[in-house]
Amino acid sequence: SDIPVVTIDGPSGVGKGTTASLLAQALDWHLLDSGALYRLLALSAMRAGVAPEEEARLETMAQSLAVRFEAGEGEQRVLLAGEDVSREIRTEDCGTMASRIAAVPGARRGLVKLQKDFRQAPGLVADGRDMGTTIFPDAPLKIFLTASPAERALRRHKQLKEKGIDANVGELEVAIAERDRRDAERSTSPLKPADDAVRIDTTELSINQVLDRVLSLVKERL
Ligand code: C5P
Repeated sequence: SDIPVVTIDGPSGVGKGTTASLLAQALDWHLLDSGALYRLLALSAMRAGVAPEEEARLETMAQSLAVRFEAGEGEQRVLLAGEDVSREIRTEDCGTMASRIAAVPGARRGLVKLQKDFRQAPGLVADGRDMGTTIFPDAPLKIFLTASPAERALRRHKQLKEKGIDANVGELEVAIAERDRRDAERSTSPLKPADDAVRIDTTELSINQVLDRVLSLVKERL
């Protein structure tokens, strides 16, 4: 496809989502939050009583996921068959189930076409774990963000606090390390940088500094 894509991959808590959303706004391009699709599939599976072991059912569910993203005030709204589930998919339960389902090859396969269909003119910013390696291997610009687990736990803690949720930083760090391990060790599309990805360590950087670096790469390459 001639339509440009910038992929932004990395583990959770590195600021992928925020960076991707600001970049899409700055370029006036489409946005794909692929993690939201795994969370939606997890929510649908939980509601239907489908377990991660039921691979064939998960694949069918993934292929017929009735999702719509709507630009809201600030954050985008996520609709599942017309129902606003923006908040529900952000819970820890849904995140944990999403990461288990994400290890099931059929579930990943079932979401491929839906993700590719987001590639529409004038361009797409796609964030996730395997955007540059599996879904858009021909993307002209691939970014891989990292940050130390301690820093990511602090960022997550701050986010939760803003939502009025009290959490323990040490426990968050353990949970983050656990999810990293599951994402890195699965056999289908493990979390790893594409060979041609530009790596940015964001531990010491603000969101605006990350965005500036990515924007200058976009100007250089596209
Ligand atoms: O990014 P987010 O935390 O919303 O993603 C939820 C889960 O979905 C992740 O923990 C990861 O296991 C999975 N995921 C994935 N591939 C993607 C995006 C998300 O495996 N492209």
